[in-house]
Amino acid sequence: MTATQRTGATDLPYTPEVAQAAALTYERLRHVIPAIEWPVHAPLIVAINELKRRRNAIILAHNYQTPEIFHGVADLSGDSLALARQAVETDAEVIVLCGVHFMAETAKLLNPEKTILIPDLEAGCSLAASITAEDVRLLRERYPSVPVVTYVNTSAAVKAESDICCTSANAVEVVESLGSERVIFLPDEFLARHIASQTEVDVIIWKGHCEVHERFTSDDLSGYRQQFSDIQILAHPECPPDVLAEADFVGSTSAMIGHVEKNRPQRVVLITECSMSDNVAVEFPEIEFIRPCNLCPHMKRITLPKILRSLQTLEHQVEIDLQVAEPARRALERMLAVG
Ligand code: 13P
Ligand code: SF4
Repeated sequence: MTATQRTGATDLPYTPEVAQAAALTYERLRHVIPAIEWPVHAPLIVAINELKRRRNAIILAHNYQTPEIFHGVADLSGDSLALARQAVETDAEVIVLCGVHFMAETAKLLNPEKTILIPDLEAGCSLAASITAEDVRLLRERYPSVPVVTYVNTSAAVKAESDICCTSANAVEVVESLGSERVIFLPDEFLARHIASQTEVDVIIWKGHCEVHERFTSDDLSGYRQQFSDIQILAHPECPPDVLAEADFVGSTSAMIGHVEKNRPQRVVLITECSMSDNVAVEFPEIEFIRPCNLCPHMKRITLPKILRSLQTLEHQVEIDLQVAEPARRALERMLAVG
C-alpha cells in the first residue's frame, strides 16, 4: 500500500504525517505486525490517541488484546486484578475498557460516576455465561452459611449474590482471608481445583470452564518438552489440572509476564490466549516464544475501528442496575481490601 492510499476499514488515509507520527510505535511492533498491515493500523492509532486526549479518556487494555491495541493505544494494561485497581486510580472522565464485558462492569462498579465504554457489547466470556444469580441463590440454600467466593469473570448480578470476589492473581489469599473451613468457589472448576490444591480450605466447586484454556492438553505440553528440552512452560490456572501438573509455573496473565521478566528463560511457551505471547515478545525480543494459538473470540471482538467509534460516539456505555451495583461493589471492594 502506498503512503497516500486509503485503509478501507475507516477511510482514514495512511499519509506521510501519519507514518511519521506512528513510526516509533511500529519500530517496537515490527516483529509481531507484518509491514503490509501497518498502513491499516497506523491511521487508526494516531486518530485514537488524538481523540483520547480531547475526551480526557484513557484506554485500559487486558493482556489478551492484540498488539496494535496493547502497544499502540493502551494507557494502562494488565490482568483482571490490575485493571480493577487501575480503574479506581485514574482521574480520567472516560475509561474505554478493551477487554470483555465483565471487566467493563468491574470498572463501572468501582467508578460509578465515570463514563465506562466497551467498544463491543457482545464481548462476553464463557465463564461469566456459565452461572446466573439464581444459581448462586440455590447454592446458598443448599450450603447455608458457607461463604461464596466469586471469580471476577462473572456478571455483576452474580457478584451481587457473593460474599467476596477474587481474580486468578489473589484467589488463594481471598479464600483464606475468610477464616472459614469451607467455601463455595464460582464458577471456574479448574481454578477452583487449583486453589484446593494450595489450601487446607474445603472448596465446593461449580463446573464452569473457559472455552480457551480448557482446550489445552497435557499431551500438548509434553510435546513441547520433547521438541525443546530447555523450554519453560507457563500456564494459566483456568487450564485443566493435568495441564497445570505439566507446567513449570502457574499464574495469572500478569504473574506469567512477571515470571518471564524475572527469570529471562531462553525459550518459553505461554499456555494461554494467543495475543499474550505477541505482547510479551515485544518487551523481550531476546526470548524465543513458542506460540500455541488458542484464541479468545470475545477478546478479539475489540478492534481499533471499534475503539475509535466508541470514542467518537461515547458508546457503548456500561450501566448497572443500582440494586445489583451496591452488593456487587461490596464484593469487589472486599477483594481489593485483601490484596
Ligand atoms: P487474568 O486475570 O489472569 O488476566 O485472566 C483473565 C482471563 O480472562 C483469563 O482467561
Ligand atoms: Fe473468558 Fe476464557 Fe476469554 Fe478469559 S479467555 S475472557 S476466561 S472466555
